[in-house]
Amino acid sequence: MKKILVVAAMFLITAAATYLASCNNNSSTISAEDKAKDSIAKVIERGSYLANNVAACIHCHSKRDFTKYAGPNTPGSEGGGGDVFDHNILDAIPGTLYGKNITPDPETGLGSWTDEQIMRAITQGISKNGDTLFPLMPYANFNRMAKDDLLSIIAYLKTLKPIKNKVPDRQLMIPISMAYPAPFLQPSVDGNTRPAETDLVKYGEYITTMADCGTCHTAFVKGQPDMSKAFGGGNTFHIGDTRVTSANITPDSTGIGAWTEDMFLKKFTMYREEKAHNYNPGNKNNVMPLVSYAGMTDSDLKAIYAYLRTIKPVSNKVEKYPQ
Ligand code: HEC
Ligand code: HEC
Repeated sequence: MKKILVVAAMFLITAAATYLASCNNNSSTISAEDKAKDSIAKVIERGSYLANNVAACIHCHSKRDFTKYAGPNTPGSEGGGGDVFDHNILDAIPGTLYGKNITPDPETGLGSWTDEQIMRAITQGISKNGDTLFPLMPYANFNRMAKDDLLSIIAYLKTLKPIKNKVPDRQLMIPISMAYPAPFLQPSVDGNTRPAETDLVKYGEYITTMADCGTCHTAFVKGQPDMSKAFGGGNTFHIGDTRVTSANITPDSTGIGAWTEDMFLKKFTMYREEKAHNYNPGNKNNVMPLVSYAGMTDSDLKAIYAYLRTIKPVSNKVEKYPQ
């Protein structure tokens, strides 16, 4: 009897130990892998959100289809570059620029660039070959982005489908040193922080900077943005026969002073529906990357609104579709 009990007890202990060991094994190996996959997926998801919906990298670096409202990207062209930005679109662009190929294609894209070289281009405006990039590429803004946000964008770019597309060189009518603005660039982004989302206005300023709202919405005078009228609107863009002037988005009565948060959100969120942009707008088109911004979270849009309420009101009545 005693012997049977001992054997039974030993059997139970062995079974329990085997069971525990198998649990342990499962939970330690699988969950460690899962965790790593999870955090990589999260980084790429964050990078995709920023590149597509906030910093609009993909909007400028793909083909834009202006036969539709607000020039949504042509599916399949994501990151492949080649779209033209020139003085016919906006006088302040002194020549012809092309969105570059930022897919991982090794010959015509970023496939042969190191992460440091990509980081330098995005935050310092220096291309792999040492050329200074024209500041239409908003590196002066990205110079203030938190490093983990930048790294997530770089991680995401590597997941793009490689597109073989050799983009032509830019042609500038002035030396690059005369291009706007003579940007103040920090030599390193290591000290940049992303404000807490609870600090709504500061966080909103961060998102507004990343989304580059200021460039189009601040009038250029003799090729330089007039910062005394920041966000006061007044730049006229040409898209074929359409002429559209950027709005005054300061809290003045001639701007969006009377807009509620709801009205502001709706300006963007309505384009989440395809039918809102998938039509030919004739001569009432827009250059604002609304289809990209439409994917911004409600809370990020609310933060932009909160920030824009705090900036200096500029009195400037804009006619959006001048004759
Ligand atoms: C407003 C349009 C616009 C936005 C937004 C934009 N870019 Fe650019 N980018 C450009 C243009 C135009 C150039 C080429 C400038 C030149 O030729 O001087 C460029 C150049 C670059 C280059 C250098 C490539 C090369 O071959 O030299 C990289 C890398 C790049 N952009 C990445 C990004 C990333 C990443 C983002 C988002 C965080 C971004 N861009 C957002 C327009 C834009
Ligand atoms: C590429 C240029 C461009 C960029 C970038 C841009 N906008 Fe605009 N925006 C325009 C133009 C042009 C208009 C006028 C046409 C319209 O109302 O849709 C406009 C209109 C608006 C309006 C409507 C105001 C009114 O009085 O009807 C709001 C609000 C606005 N922009 C906010 C923003 C915010 C916020 C950002 C950044 C997240 C931004 N814009 C980025 C060009 C731009």
